[in-house]
Amino acid sequence: MWQPPERIKHELPSAVWPGRDQAAGARLFQPRAIGPRTAATRTWVPAMVPWRATDDGFVTPDVIDWYRRFAEGKPGVLVVEATGIRDIPSGPLLRIGHDRFLEGLTKLASAVHEASQGETLLFIQLIDFLSIRRRPPRDKYFARFLTPTPHHREALAQLTSDPSARTCDEAELRSRLAALPEADLTYVLSLRELEDLERGYRERVTDTYASHIAELPQVLPELFANAAERAIAAGFDGVELHYAHAYTMASFLSALNTREDGYGGARENRVRLPLEVIAAVRKRVSKRAVVGCRYLGDDVVEGGNHLEDAVWFGVELARAGLDFLSISKGGKFEDAKQPKVGWAAYPYTGQSGYECMPTIYSDARGPFGRNISLAATIRAAVTGAGFTTPVVTAGGISDFARAEAILEHGEADFVASARQTLADPDWFLKIREGRGAEIRRCEFTNYCEALDQQHKQVTCKLWDRSELDAPDVPLAADGKRRLLAPRSKR
Ligand SMILES: Cc1cc2nc3c(=O)[nH]c(=O)nc-3n(C[C@H](O)[C@H](O)[C@H](O)COP(=O)(O)O)c2cc1C
Ligand code: SF4
Repeated sequence: MWQPPERIKHELPSAVWPGRDQAAGARLFQPRAIGPRTAATRTWVPAMVPWRATDDGFVTPDVIDWYRRFAEGKPGVLVVEATGIRDIPSGPLLRIGHDRFLEGLTKLASAVHEASQGETLLFIQLIDFLSIRRRPPRDKYFARFLTPTPHHREALAQLTSDPSARTCDEAELRSRLAALPEADLTYVLSLRELEDLERGYRERVTDTYASHIAELPQVLPELFANAAERAIAAGFDGVELHYAHAYTMASFLSALNTREDGYGGARENRVRLPLEVIAAVRKRVSKRAVVGCRYLGDDVVEGGNHLEDAVWFGVELARAGLDFLSISKGGKFEDAKQPKVGWAAYPYTGQSGYECMPTIYSDARGPFGRNISLAATIRAAVTGAGFTTPVVTAGGISDFARAEAILEHGEADFVASARQTLADPDWFLKIREGRGAEIRRCEFTNYCEALDQQHKQVTCKLWDRSELDAPDVPLAADGKRRLLAPRSKR
């Protein structure tokens, strides 16, 4: 992962934990309305993909155990990982694109409600994403993937001063292109072709020459609405529309979206499909369930959205009747590291990825609460426009004082902690019970994120090697790591 050049190692914030009585009166543990429901506390576990679904997207006992473990800590809201809304092969990513997924999702929802004794609202994050391929070996790219054009012939003829490139057969053309030195490729290939070669082919929302991309605005509202309906049927309390990071809906919102069909260009056009999706979802689930979204306070890529855009979108999304706005940051493909041959680009490897999940090695600002100001500015604009839509903030929040200060200063309505909750799923309960000193504190070194990147079962370095031979400890596929955080001894 990219790291700030300063690479300053920060200490964890000194944590002063409240006693039981102080915690009981804390803002963090007061209820907050969220659409048609009320969260018992303002604590929130945002979506985290743990790579525990089957290869065809079904809930497994490991998926249920993972969420049950979080529910035992009784957060106010728990959001299930990014879950695919289409009925297409997506590897071991959880899916909700067909009724056959309902049985597993229903078991998951009831396990969470039971384990939290009804205290935790359970949402599921609904995602659409476009295709991405692995970076091809150079010979394979020229032999199979490149579509030869007259431009390639002409450029090659000029470059090599050999007119036969204009007329040679296709196989010959491909092998001559493959034999070119690296430096000449920029002359012969388009920028997009060069990127396909160097990083692997990746679809964009602007590829409207392809009918399935042109038709996204016609197809997606229904797909999201069907998925939301299934989620509610399975017993979820609500859905989180995934409008963040590197995926389809965030790409529609992005300033890099130059579609010319009324769904790109100006902000009003970029938000059009996201609003149409919200309308379709709301129409389907009415006020029976919570409908919110996660989107970016800043894309952190050149030419992408910045806070100013996000503020404008926040007001429009609130006006559209969303029940919450969860603010994330970055996590884009545009600045992702070049993958090795045979690997696909991963959106959390560049600077924007760092900003999404900042680590202990940082710049002078450090990783803690680094993204709060985005949520605070968006919340101020949403409130100023007359809406009470709750705003959720995330990013390096792992201590009580900071969480409480966010609420006290009106910077957000819910405080989300992903990695800290992975490090210690009981941490909310421990604070409430005056046992803060027992909290296993996240060190923000992103061992978990590295596992995620390799699509390996996600665990935390602070507990995944402990008591491996205790009875009933499920192990990861490598046989070396436990899959669930140990229960705290009392
Ligand atoms: C292993 C892992 C998987 C994640 N998966 C998702 C995801 O499915 N959807 C999402 O919106 N964010 C995802 N995130 C980002 C987190 O929700 C969160 O925004 C980020 O980790 C910053 O919060 P934190 O500092 O509290 O960890 C993931 C993070 C981690 C560490
Ligand atoms: S692996 Fe590291 S960054 Fe991830 S939750 Fe554990 S301590 Fe935190």
